Amino acid sequence: MEPATPAPTIAAVAPRLLLTPLPHDGPETFAEYRARGGYDGLMRLLQDGTPEQLRREVAIAGLRGRGGAAFPTARKWELAANSGHDTRYVVANGGEHEPGSRKDRVLVERHPHAVLEGLMLAGIATGATKAWLYLIEDMHGPRAAAEQALRELDEQGLMHLPIALHLGPPTYVAGEETAALNAIEGKPAKPRKKPPFPGELGLFEKPTTVNNVETLAHTAWIARHGGAAFAAIGTTESKGTLLFTLGAEVRRPGVYELPFGTTFRQLIDDCGGGLANGRAVRAVLPAMSCGFVAAAHLDVPIAYETLRPLGSSPGCGGVRIVDDATDTVALTLEIAEFFMREQCGQCPPCRMETNQFVHILKAVQQGKGPGYQDKLQKLAEFSRKKGFCSLIEMAAAPVLSAVQCFAEDFARAAGPGTPAGS
Ligand SMILES: Cc1cc2nc3c(=O)[nH]c(=O)nc-3n(C[C@H](O)[C@H](O)[C@H](O)COP(=O)(O)O)c2cc1C
Ligand code: SF4
Repeated sequence: MEPATPAPTIAAVAPRLLLTPLPHDGPETFAEYRARGGYDGLMRLLQDGTPEQLRREVAIAGLRGRGGAAFPTARKWELAANSGHDTRYVVANGGEHEPGSRKDRVLVERHPHAVLEGLMLAGIATGATKAWLYLIEDMHGPRAAAEQALRELDEQGLMHLPIALHLGPPTYVAGEETAALNAIEGKPAKPRKKPPFPGELGLFEKPTTVNNVETLAHTAWIARHGGAAFAAIGTTESKGTLLFTLGAEVRRPGVYELPFGTTFRQLIDDCGGGLANGRAVRAVLPAMSCGFVAAAHLDVPIAYETLRPLGSSPGCGGVRIVDDATDTVALTLEIAEFFMREQCGQCPPCRMETNQFVHILKAVQQGKGPGYQDKLQKLAEFSRKKGFCSLIEMAAAPVLSAVQCFAEDFARAAGPGTPAGS
């Protein structure tokens, strides 16, 4: 009898818009990118397209920002295009410094031209006169790839917008868009108070569009293939593909590109090869600043509209997996300590909230009794919207969801007589 042919894994059948296979380990060259239609979208736009047409295609595509906040890209571009200033700028944000997320580094290091084409398209769509590619000092591979790609673009006479490369400091908060703008201006990389938003008053006091590098690479694909082709991939409200990073918890760690609508089970089992330690999955944290998704929902399609009712979101795709042997109180404390360390100190409510989260979680760990959930909730409510940036809300999301998702663990740790969720 013929041996059964194994079904193709989701990674093998998923459309790859960004991470196309390369025959080598280095960055995709200009010639390789052109050979697969790279820069066709830009050239078509320059020959007989208009910025309005490009913005319309991106609107049809339904593309949302991949930097974490999922803001509709076409709307951001429309606001910039209509800002009424003569001088405007665009920035590609590759400031990725979230533990567990490597997708932007991998994208820039392997496919720098897709990011640069997207950056030039964003510039043309918004009427910008200069662009910056923002990376972080410790990103040696992505930096080398970007420098080579910029040299190639220049040699080909395709630099339709001056692009400068800027390296920010290696902190989490330096990836926040206004912190990135400060870094480019030579100031400390700390977030600015908003409003004004960068689209109104950004770099050097000019309207500035900041987009994540993955978002921009998607716009290059959309300019080439059309918005409708992109919108045909994914789910009702979540279009296209998303880059996910899997860490050492799975047998095959790496960055995977999958369409929205893929399930966490497919991501973990088909792409990651299952948990490396052979244990069962108890929950998933789609990104550091999201809510935990319990294992009962592993077959829910990953999308903005499906994770929202579960108190989570796809985030930036730096997936963390909690197995059934994980000390969930210690994990939550580790996350809270990360945010306490990384907050930049400018806003007293953020300093207070992140410090107090750690204090309360340490008390739970030491068995010092009930009341923790109420205290954490009140702290988060008090702090909401009181920071210059959304780190203040990002720090609260995993902590508040952990005490619900792992209610029994917290009650047990907090000591005798503590009911779950007290
Ligand atoms: C603390 C903090 C860190 C952030 N880090 C990044 C980052 O590394 N890369 C990124 O693109 N966006 C990051 N963001 C989100 C950006 O501020 C911004 O929303 C994003 O770059 C916009 O691009 P998009 O619309 O294409 O998603 C961060 C936000 C916060 C509050
Ligand atoms: S909210 Fe926190 S991280 Fe953001 S600017 Fe204020 S102190 Fe810094």
